Amino acid sequence: MTRGVESRKVERWMFRESIKKMAAYVPGEQPRPGQRVIKLNTNENPYPPSPRVRRAVAAAVSGTALRLYPAPRADEFVASAARLYSIPQKMIIAGNGSDELLAMIFRATLGAGDTVAYAVPTYSLYDTLALVQEARILHFPLGADFELPLEAIAQARAKLTIVCNPNSPSGTLTPARKIAALAKQLDDRLLVIDEAYVDFAEENALPLLKRHRNLVILRTLSKSYSLAGMRLGLCFAHPRAINALMKVKDSYNLSRVALAAGAEALKDSAWMRKNVEKVKRTRSVTEAALRKLGFVVTPSQANFVLARMPGKNMAPVTRGLRRAGILVRHFPTPLLRDALRISIGTPAEMKALFAALEPLIKQSTAKRRSPA
Ligand SMILES: Cc1ncc(COP(=O)(O)O)c(C=O)c1O
Repeated sequence: MTRGVESRKVERWMFRESIKKMAAYVPGEQPRPGQRVIKLNTNENPYPPSPRVRRAVAAAVSGTALRLYPAPRADEFVASAARLYSIPQKMIIAGNGSDELLAMIFRATLGAGDTVAYAVPTYSLYDTLALVQEARILHFPLGADFELPLEAIAQARAKLTIVCNPNSPSGTLTPARKIAALAKQLDDRLLVIDEAYVDFAEENALPLLKRHRNLVILRTLSKSYSLAGMRLGLCFAHPRAINALMKVKDSYNLSRVALAAGAEALKDSAWMRKNVEKVKRTRSVTEAALRKLGFVVTPSQANFVLARMPGKNMAPVTRGLRRAGILVRHFPTPLLRDALRISIGTPAEMKALFAALEPLIKQSTAKRRSPA
């Protein structure tokens, strides 16, 4: 028997059928240590976090503090969030990034055959988490301008409904009044609003929390707070939902270092706001420049833009950019093969992007025009 056959046989009794069948989530490419690239593929913030974070991290690792386990309920970080957002602590739970909070929500709500609904294209981790739970996935296509099919989603009355808002990869925002209407229609069903990018948008759903007990709102410090490497997420919901999530949480899900960083970052939201304003200014310049190059660009409310060349496969352009040391995101699905998702970097990074992108686009349109 060859090793491959042998290990497949072993796998047969080691893992659940559903895990064997499913594909793993594919994260955006992360450069090797020391590799110099312009990284516009996973929507990180191009500006550093508040200097208060660095001081807090230094204090957290000094002396013998790391000998001890961290606070299991992330008290100081949660207290910072409660003060900043004027929401009681019993309505907040912290996660190791909002990805962990999503996993906790899926684990706590979905068993085999339970339904989960969301519009697509969206954050593909939802599919992965649903497959792990053996849940039944209900996909609803977004409209022509990426508008949410609210009625269809409401009527599905899935056990769990998710709205990514602003949505990735479209960058579009469903207004809060529509979110409120959906929450009302879904009534006793859980509605999760994934607000990973909401600090870059015009409005958010937090004020709705008081009136809708079925609403769960997710935030992350990875994007606006420039702390993707620290893994910090927040979940806001009715105390009963928070209690349920506490039951499926790892005991010590956030490190002492992350907790110290998170608590301080939220105390300096002015620093975050300044960076967000810079990103938003670069975003509008980027959108205009992409349109000038011939892209169709939906106005974005996030820290990235989705740029399309209808009917044209953007995979070769993505590869060309990569050769020039610039990473952007291309999704090899039929719906998105004509699109690039480009994170907003510094003005200098965007200048480098356009210097590399322009000849690639000219080359590819010239090829298209030339007779066969
Ligand atoms: C829509 C959406 N939700 C959640 C996340 C996860 O964020 P975190 O870094 O907090 O796990 C991402 C990350 O890219 C995202 O795009």
